[in-house]
Amino acid sequence: MTISETPSKASSQEAPSAVPVTVLGLGNMGRALAGAFLSAGYATTLWNRTPGRGDDLVARGAVHAPSAADAVRASALTVVSLVDYDAAEAVLAPLAEAGAFEGGRVLVNLTSDTPERSRSAAEWAAEHGIAYLDGSVMVPTTVVGGPEALIFYSGDREAFERYEGTLRALGARATFLDEDPGLAAVYDLAMLDFFYTAMSGLIHAFALAGADGVKAAALAPHLDTISAILPPLAGAMAAHVDAGEYPGDLGNLAMETAGIDHILHMSRSRGLDVTVLEAVRAIAGRALEKGHGGDDWSRTVEEIRP
Ligand SMILES: NC(=O)c1ccc[n+]([C@@H]2O[C@H](COP(=O)([O-])OP(=O)(O)OC[C@H]3O[C@@H](n4cnc5c(N)ncnc54)[C@H](OP(=O)(O)O)[C@@H]3O)[C@@H](O)[C@H]2O)c1
Repeated sequence: MTISETPSKASSQEAPSAVPVTVLGLGNMGRALAGAFLSAGYATTLWNRTPGRGDDLVARGAVHAPSAADAVRASALTVVSLVDYDAAEAVLAPLAEAGAFEGGRVLVNLTSDTPERSRSAAEWAAEHGIAYLDGSVMVPTTVVGGPEALIFYSGDREAFERYEGTLRALGARATFLDEDPGLAAVYDLAMLDFFYTAMSGLIHAFALAGADGVKAAALAPHLDTISAILPPLAGAMAAHVDAGEYPGDLGNLAMETAGIDHILHMSRSRGLDVTVLEAVRAIAGRALEKGHGGDDWSRTVEEIRP
């Protein structure tokens, strides 16, 4: 995306090419973020704990700062992408003590961790007078900077609105959630909860088919049938969960639990690990024992909650 195409009300308030930006952390994600800034024409300063990373970005016009403090002072906006919040704190604490963020500089922390860590980081930033946005990158590095790149933000609304055009260089789907700085992490972990349990199911399916000689590649083309069911299902089940009503008009727990039992039976007879399936069966089983066999699968949310 070029700057002139940036679809943002903020782009009319700021002159994006005049906003210098800094990226702290040049791992896989940090390099992708810095590359997206460069592609959109932003003057980009880089810093990484271990020297020697991001030389390709320097070849494209980025500048390596000699220290993290120099990097922060070079820009109005600093984006941080480190492995976790322990690393972020180790890098950021001395910078705040040195006053590197003075002058209204904005800190955008795109490091992933828990909501608690995000909220305490925001408190720390407030104590030091730093405008703080927390964020979660919801796409792989190859998608960063593109029209499909979803990045959640929460925290300082004014900072987001001021730099929305700049942040859209990292992902056109820059989404501000709330002033609660923990919410980007809540959305992140909820979506990753779905992702990792789905990945576990996918790999188990390959193992199950493989136990009877079916190559994963033979099964894979047909799995889009299952993935295509999920978007409408997510909307319908979300409505059930929010309403606390679980009508099993189209499919019900009793039928679906019988289906799980078939998968368990086949898996056990092939000697496959059934840890995850047994956990799924146990949750559904508790709902069945309470007489909810005619309800939709969404009823199981009641068995997950404390
Ligand atoms: N990669 C993805 O597809 C992806 C997708 C969505 C979100 N994310 C999130 O993006 C963040 C960065 O991920 P990544 O893939 O870039 O990880 P990565 O490639 O492993 O890079 C980790 C970065 O953290 C730095 N680091 C680690 N410990 C440090 C410390 N104690 N002090 C200073 N720097 C430290 C590393 O610096 P050195 O080079 O000095 O080791 C490196 O810059 C994570 O929170 C991740 O969850 C990643």
